[in-house]
Amino acid sequence: MVLLSRRTLLKAGAVAGAYGAGLAIAGGLRAASAAPITLTAGETQAPLKGDQPTRGIMTWNEGPQPPTLRLEKGQPFAARLVNQLKEPTTIHWHGLRIDNKMDGVPFLTQPYIYTGDSFDYAFTPPDAGTFWYHPHCNTLVQMGRGMTGLLIVENPDDPAFDHEVVLNLRDWRLGNDGQFIDPFKPRDAAKSGTYGTYKTANWQENPIYDAPAGGIVRVRMVITDVTRIYSFGADGAEAVVIALDGNPVAEPFPLDRYQAGPGQRIELALRMPETEGAIATLTNYRTSPAYPLARFRAVGASLKRDLRDVKALPANPVSEPVLKDAEVVPLELSATAEGAPPKEGFCGSLGYNFWAINKTPWSGDTADPMAPLAELKHGKSYILRLANRTPHAHPIHLHGMSFKVLSSSQGAVRPIFTDTYLIQPDEIAELGLVADNLGDWVIHCHIIEHQKTGMTAFLRVV
Ligand code: C2O
Ligand code: CU
Repeated sequence: MVLLSRRTLLKAGAVAGAYGAGLAIAGGLRAASAAPITLTAGETQAPLKGDQPTRGIMTWNEGPQPPTLRLEKGQPFAARLVNQLKEPTTIHWHGLRIDNKMDGVPFLTQPYIYTGDSFDYAFTPPDAGTFWYHPHCNTLVQMGRGMTGLLIVENPDDPAFDHEVVLNLRDWRLGNDGQFIDPFKPRDAAKSGTYGTYKTANWQENPIYDAPAGGIVRVRMVITDVTRIYSFGADGAEAVVIALDGNPVAEPFPLDRYQAGPGQRIELALRMPETEGAIATLTNYRTSPAYPLARFRAVGASLKRDLRDVKALPANPVSEPVLKDAEVVPLELSATAEGAPPKEGFCGSLGYNFWAINKTPWSGDTADPMAPLAELKHGKSYILRLANRTPHAHPIHLHGMSFKVLSSSQGAVRPIFTDTYLIQPDEIAELGLVADNLGDWVIHCHIIEHQKTGMTAFLRVV
C-alpha cells in the first residue's frame, strides 16, 4: 500500500471520505485565509469531573476546551486576543519560530494585555507540526485552570493517514466537589512539582475515539500539563513515533515507553487492530499503577494497512548548527536555598526561590527583567551545555529557536531538532543551535512551579 500525499488526495477529491483528518478534534478552528480569528480570554463553568460544573475554568472562546487552531506552513496567520479575564494575560505560541514581538512574554517582548484590552498577533509559521498556545502570565493559575490550546501547522505535502486524533493531555487540581483547589504546595514545588488530582485527555477521563479497523491513525499528543512527565505505551496496537516537538523524526521508531514532559509533543502513527470493536489504549506508564490516557475503537472492515509503509514526514527548514568553533553556553540547573528574595512578581510570582540557573534564582516575568543569561550573535552557532545538578527531571524549553540534541552523559541520543529537552537527574546534555532569530528568548523549565521559582532566564540574540 502506498500512502498518498494529502495534496494528491485533495486533487483526487478523496479526502472527504468518512475518515478525513480532523474529525475527532474538539472545537477545531481553521485559519483558512489571512482573515484574523478572535480569541477571547475569559472564564466559564462546565462539568469536568462528575456532573457538578467546575467554576472558574479559564479558556478562549466558548468551550471549556480552547479551540484547536489549524494553520498551514508558510501561510500568514493572525489572531486578535481580547482579554475578558479579571487579570492581565498574553499568548505565547509554543514551539513556533516567529518574530520576537509575537512571542507573548510580558515585559520582555510585549506589554501586558489588561482586562478589556486586546492585542493583535500575526505571523507566518515556518515549520509544520504539532504546537500549542498558552498565556505567559500568571501561568500556574491561567494554564492550570484551562488555558492550554493546541495549534497544528499542516503541511500539504505530508502523507495522508486514514484518520487523525489530537490529544491534549493534562491534569486538573480539583477537590472532591469538582472545584479548583490550591494550585500548588511549596514543598512539592521544591521537588518534582505539585500534581493534579484529575487526569484527562481533551478535558475527559480516558475518552474513546472511533478509527478505521486496520487503518493508520495519526495521533498528535501534546502534554499541556503544568507538572506531569509521561512515559507512553500503546496497548492492543502497534505505534511508531513520527515527530517530536514539532519536528519529524528522520526514521520512525517504536513508541516503547517514550518519555516526555510538560510542553512536549509526540506524534504517532498508530496501527488500529483488525477486528471490528477491538480497542487500543494509550497508557501513561510513568505512574504506578499505569493509567489509560485514551482509547481507540476499531470500526468497519479492516483497511489492512502496514506500519512499515509509513514514511518519514518532510523535514522542517531548521538550520544545522556548525559545531566546529561553536561557543559553549553553560546552563547549570541547581536547587537553591538562598538567593535574593523574589522580585515583586507581576506575572504570578509564587513567592519562593527554589531553583537556579548558573546559581542565579531568576525572577522570570517581571516588569524589570534581569540581564540576559547570554548574548548570542545572530547567525552564529552555539552549544548549550545543560547540566542537571538536581535529583529531578526538567523539561527545558527555549522560545523562538529550535536546537539539535547532540550528546548526553547518559548514553546515545536521537539527533532530533526540538524546542524542549527533558533532562534527567545528574545528566549533562549538549544542544546545538544557530542563533538565527533576533530578540530576547526565554529559556525555562516547563514544570511551571520550577519556572516560577527560579528556573527561567533568557538569551539575547543581537
Ligand atoms: Cu510553553 Cu515559555 O513556554
Ligand atoms: Cu523543572
